[in-house]
Amino acid sequence: MTSPKKLFIKTYGCQMNVYDSERMAEALKGYEQTDTPDDADMILLNTCHIREKAAEKVYSELGRYKPLKEARPDLKIGVAGCVAQAEGAEIMRRQPMVDLVVGPQSYHRLPELEAKASAGEKALDTDFPIDDKFEHLAARPKAARGPTAFLTVQEGCDKFCAFCVVPYTRGAEVSRPVARILTEARDLVARGVREITLLGQNVNAYHGLGETGAEATLAQLIWQLDKIDGLERIRFTTSHPNDMTDDLIEAHGTCAKLMPYLHLPVQSGSDRILKRMNRSHTRDSYLRLIERIRAARPDILISGDFIVGFPEESDQDFADTMDLIREVNYGQAFSFKYSPRPGTPAAERPEVEPALADARLQELQALIAQQQKTIQDSMVGRELDVLFEKPGKLEGQMMGKTGYLHAVHVKDCPLPRGAMARVRIVQSVRNSLAGELITA
Ligand code: SAH
Ligand code: SF4
Ligand code: F3S
Repeated sequence: MTSPKKLFIKTYGCQMNVYDSERMAEALKGYEQTDTPDDADMILLNTCHIREKAAEKVYSELGRYKPLKEARPDLKIGVAGCVAQAEGAEIMRRQPMVDLVVGPQSYHRLPELEAKASAGEKALDTDFPIDDKFEHLAARPKAARGPTAFLTVQEGCDKFCAFCVVPYTRGAEVSRPVARILTEARDLVARGVREITLLGQNVNAYHGLGETGAEATLAQLIWQLDKIDGLERIRFTTSHPNDMTDDLIEAHGTCAKLMPYLHLPVQSGSDRILKRMNRSHTRDSYLRLIERIRAARPDILISGDFIVGFPEESDQDFADTMDLIREVNYGQAFSFKYSPRPGTPAAERPEVEPALADARLQELQALIAQQQKTIQDSMVGRELDVLFEKPGKLEGQMMGKTGYLHAVHVKDCPLPRGAMARVRIVQSVRNSLAGELITA
């Protein structure tokens, strides 16, 4: 028997790419994963195109592999993900040592593409086939898993925000059928998973085929998952404010397995900019929505995304965003300086002075950091359920997460990975909490 070849995958971008990388590794039978490119037979970069910096990283990373490829011409180099979709054959022109390019909707063709590349040909597939790629990907092998997992339920986006490449790289919005998601979830639980995060670029727009033949909402899917014994926690990301339906809001108040954390990006607090972004919600509709969500689940931790320096953003527009942040009080947020993306409508518009955008970003991040810290500090003294994920850096220590997604370190913890326990929070440090097990 020949020994398996080695596969090194490097993943950039969002959680869906993390999920996709797992599935690609499973699809490439005959390979086992290695954590260094040095002894790999195949290097696969799973890329992100969301901002210019993210996309450029790919080319600098490829440059780093040049000596490896020169020393071992048999080494195959592949580019997957959103840069592969956006740039296609251009990647091979710019970096001729790339053997394989595969877009996010063509992963199920990876084995064929790998065979082609191994035979010394260039292999490229960036089609948007209509079949469900997940069905064609190899079934997950029955190997044990850690306590948390991602599961893609919806992919693509039809919203076309003026700044965003996702509708072009991931294609039109598609939801997977409920039955297939339940099968995958049960399999994950059988392998040790206790928390599943449902993924979608617009996950709350989910409308997959239900088991009764009618379309199911995300809330209905969550209630189905709720019945799986051994699955303790359910999360979902990323949601769009316009798709926060009443049944989903209600589930946050009534479904015990649904965690009190919601990532709900708003991007800007100015109606003028929201309109120019083609976001289709207003500052006011967002604020009212947050109120309704908090009425259903008062302790929910709200997280968001912000873009600063969007074309034409004035001082007043930015002040409106800061004001919205003060009103919402975020437990967590990601913020970015606007990056013009080729092919998107906003890329044609006059840019905000970069130094001004930088200054605004710093100001916004300082406010978010302060809110984040206040909310994290408020956990001290509370007793919370913690799902333990892995050993901490110190001897005998374990790291887990609360329902609010805060990391908690517990010293001298006898519990294994995957255990769930009641913990008293005793201290809030820079990026985590410290806690003590509550013994009955
Ligand atoms: N589907 C998610 C977002 C996916 S992209 C949603 O609708 O919110 C993740 C985040 O990247 C976005 O929320 C946005 O804040 C940021 N982003 C997207 N395009 C960007 C661009 N051109 N420049 C800067 N940030 C961008
Ligand atoms: Fe991009 Fe907007 Fe779609 Fe989110 S909703 S993926 S920001 S186009
Ligand atoms: Fe990036 Fe594609 Fe995800 S552009 S953020 S990897 S959907």
